[in-house]
Amino acid sequence: MKIGILGTGDVGKTLGKAFVALGHEVKMGSRDAKNDKALAWAKETGPKASAGTFADAAAFGDIVVLATLGIANESALTMAGCDRFRGKVVIDTTNPLDFSKGVPPTLAVSGHDSAGERVQILLPEARVVKAFNTVGSLHMFRPDFPGGPPDMFICGNDAEAKKQVAGILKDFGWGVIDSGGIESSRYLEAMCLVWVLHAFSSTPPTWNHAFKVLMK
Ligand SMILES: NC(=O)c1ccc[n+]([C@@H]2O[C@H](COP(=O)([O-])OP(=O)(O)OC[C@H]3O[C@@H](n4cnc5c(N)ncnc54)[C@H](OP(=O)(O)O)[C@@H]3O)[C@@H](O)[C@H]2O)c1
Repeated sequence: MKIGILGTGDVGKTLGKAFVALGHEVKMGSRDAKNDKALAWAKETGPKASAGTFADAAAFGDIVVLATLGIANESALTMAGCDRFRGKVVIDTTNPLDFSKGVPPTLAVSGHDSAGERVQILLPEARVVKAFNTVGSLHMFRPDFPGGPPDMFICGNDAEAKKQVAGILKDFGWGVIDSGGIESSRYLEAMCLVWVLHAFSSTPPTWNHAFKVLMK
């Protein structure tokens, strides 16, 4: 499959490398086609990896991963060209974190709104699935915890898209918890803060935790 990744940060790099490891072709997009981080990532990741603009990555992907600074999603998607996402599954990994008052951050969008819903509104013909936003990038691929595979919470309005993303998550080594429609992003983005607040509960902060739901 062809995967477009919008984002040159730790999430874009980690997920991009993981998709390549599983045999997919990946194009990483940025504001600048000559972004150093994207070019270095592509060189290091091998022949199935390439780099370009946000628009190039959106056009390339059968599936597109949104891994941009959460409060810049609108700007990144506008640069990518919202038409390029028509009919595609978009995996939204973002959290609208506000670091203006330092760490830990707060949510710039919350209550009866969320980044996930805003992405779906900006891309009305895309099938947006929130995923990967409740764990640090270190553990996104093949998470290895003593308590067994952790669970990734997902949400979105399109059942078929969620099924496809659940399959990807299973290939990545995750259990999957379907949390409903895209409006559940309000809660999954808040869960990111629970994850972050736990990180900052230790000195130095710890990043080695993930959520798991116990079933009976
Ligand atoms: N880091 C983690 O462990 C983690 C875990 C779970 C979820 N998340 C979420 O995943 C997303 C990506 O996180 P990250 O740490 O990998 O990277 P990040 O530093 O949050 O975002 C980097 C990306 O955002 C783009 N960007 C920044 N400002 C922009 C603007 N004004 N307009 C358009 N694009 C802009 C950058 O573009 P350029 O490439 O052009 O510089 C870059 O591609 C975030 O929403 C974050 O909350 C992060």
